[in-house]
Amino acid sequence: MDKMHNSDKTCWNCPAAKLMGNVDFRACGQAREFKAGLDEEEEIVIECRRRPELGYFEPNITFEQCPEWIASEYGYILKNMRVMILGIDGYLGWTLALKLGKLGFQISGLDNYTRRDCVMEKGAHTIIPIERMTQRLKIARDILGININFRKIDLLDASKVREFLEEVKPEAIVHYGEIPSAPYSMADSEHAVRVQENNVIGTLKLLWIIKDVVPETCLIKLGTMGEYGSPLTGRPLFEGLFPADAIIKWDEREWSLGGETTPRDPVSFYHASKVQDTFNVLEACKYWWLRSYDIMQGVIYGVYTEELAVDKKLRTRYDIDEWFGTVINRFVAQAVTGIPLTIYGQGEQIRGFIALNDAMQCMIRLIVSPPEPGQYDVVNQVSGLYKISDLAEAIAKIGNKKFNLNVMIKRIENPRVEADNHPLEVVSRKLPRFFGFTPQIDLEEEIERMIEVLLEEEIKKRIDLKKHTILPVTTWQGEKREMKELEKYEPGTRESKGYKPIFDT
Ligand SMILES: NC(=O)c1ccc[n+]([C@@H]2O[C@H](COP(=O)([O-])OP(=O)(O)OC[C@H]3O[C@@H](n4cnc5c(N)ncnc54)[C@H](O)[C@@H]3O)[C@@H](O)[C@H]2O)c1
Repeated sequence: MDKMHNSDKTCWNCPAAKLMGNVDFRACGQAREFKAGLDEEEEIVIECRRRPELGYFEPNITFEQCPEWIASEYGYILKNMRVMILGIDGYLGWTLALKLGKLGFQISGLDNYTRRDCVMEKGAHTIIPIERMTQRLKIARDILGININFRKIDLLDASKVREFLEEVKPEAIVHYGEIPSAPYSMADSEHAVRVQENNVIGTLKLLWIIKDVVPETCLIKLGTMGEYGSPLTGRPLFEGLFPADAIIKWDEREWSLGGETTPRDPVSFYHASKVQDTFNVLEACKYWWLRSYDIMQGVIYGVYTEELAVDKKLRTRYDIDEWFGTVINRFVAQAVTGIPLTIYGQGEQIRGFIALNDAMQCMIRLIVSPPEPGQYDVVNQVSGLYKISDLAEAIAKIGNKKFNLNVMIKRIENPRVEADNHPLEVVSRKLPRFFGFTPQIDLEEEIERMIEVLLEEEIKKRIDLKKHTILPVTTWQGEKREMKELEKYEPGTRESKGYKPIFDT
């Protein structure tokens, strides 16, 4: 058997380990004392919360050696690991809960149904119907045998969040609980404030609670590739921090940039909220020795994971409206319902994408391979880079050839402020090289699967009912109006223009 990606990780990484003794291993030289009540003050020892009978010992047992960690297809997994999912009712939260539950993790989660409320505010609905949470929990229990400890809690309600964390003592926390929409955050002052307050203040409060209640937990925080923007110079988008050999030259002098955070150039007030989160999480790791992976996630598409496919009642939500419909999901809905796929501007914008199932694979691999105390790390979670116009072509081609649809493509005025045509080089080395991630979902295959699901009679009807919510009516200048049509064309009649993406894995 090949060595697992986390087999050499040790108690240093394990959330069950309680560090004691004098610890001074950080590059910045800040020491921290963990009082063990021992004589040998210099010695670093741990106590295992899961096996207190072992007493104090050196924190060098590897996951491979430890009986609490069991081999699986995702690496060694901590037995019955307690994972709390914030935003568990959402597109990704629900999907991850089922997947982790099926693997034997103990799942808890909170949500305050913000996403449901925002979609309703837009006058839209999820085109894949989902039940109320109480019913979803019952269905997960009945069909998959998964018990989820759920609370309806707003992340801004610090005392309730604290109580829940004290009760569960999660060994990992996946933080999906934010409002994930650029156009929503650009609609007007009220929406911009709502997004920033919900996301930034929610995360900041959470950090203080983690520090007090579960400082050993790993916070897996969702950022977005949109934090970086798309630098016109073509500078590679490194994984959050500059690599050790990066150098800046100025005025005939040189300095190392290694380990410094890379520039962020957010593209909406939503993305700016994620950038602020990034700095708050980084600081918390520095001040309090919290540990975190900050995930710069590409745009997610798709409907498939093994668990979601078991029964229609287990499926996750799928939105197509202007505020919450991500581009591939929206294009597929347009294709099945006979609306031309709407490209904003030139359509030569390049973005990073990842299929739902692959994103879940990455999450599990990160959860079972926690950073060390005080370690803040960033991964770019992306499995392919595509130009928007190329995606429209791919979806139209599959729709027309395999499903006999009549898909057209339309370019409209770009409501956003973004470069229509730009180079993009994305570095995404850590997940494949250090966490054993291999993408399993092919873009075309997932598009086919999505079309099949969206062509189901009930879902097609639900798309038809809400198709008026798809087209953008909000410009980044704050105007409310329809966007001008620039061009309508048949797929296969345009050559792909502009820069070629560079994907560095
Ligand atoms: N879906 C994507 O393409 C994508 C891409 C990059 C990053 N992300 C990030 O991943 C995360 C999850 O995305 P998603 O697509 O599942 O979004 P989602 O809106 O479906 O899920 C987020 C969940 O969090 C809940 N929530 C929001 N604010 C809350 C609060 N204050 N208290 C409690 N619950 C709250 C919502 O009700 C929702 O159920 C988000 O942080 C998003 O920014 C998503």
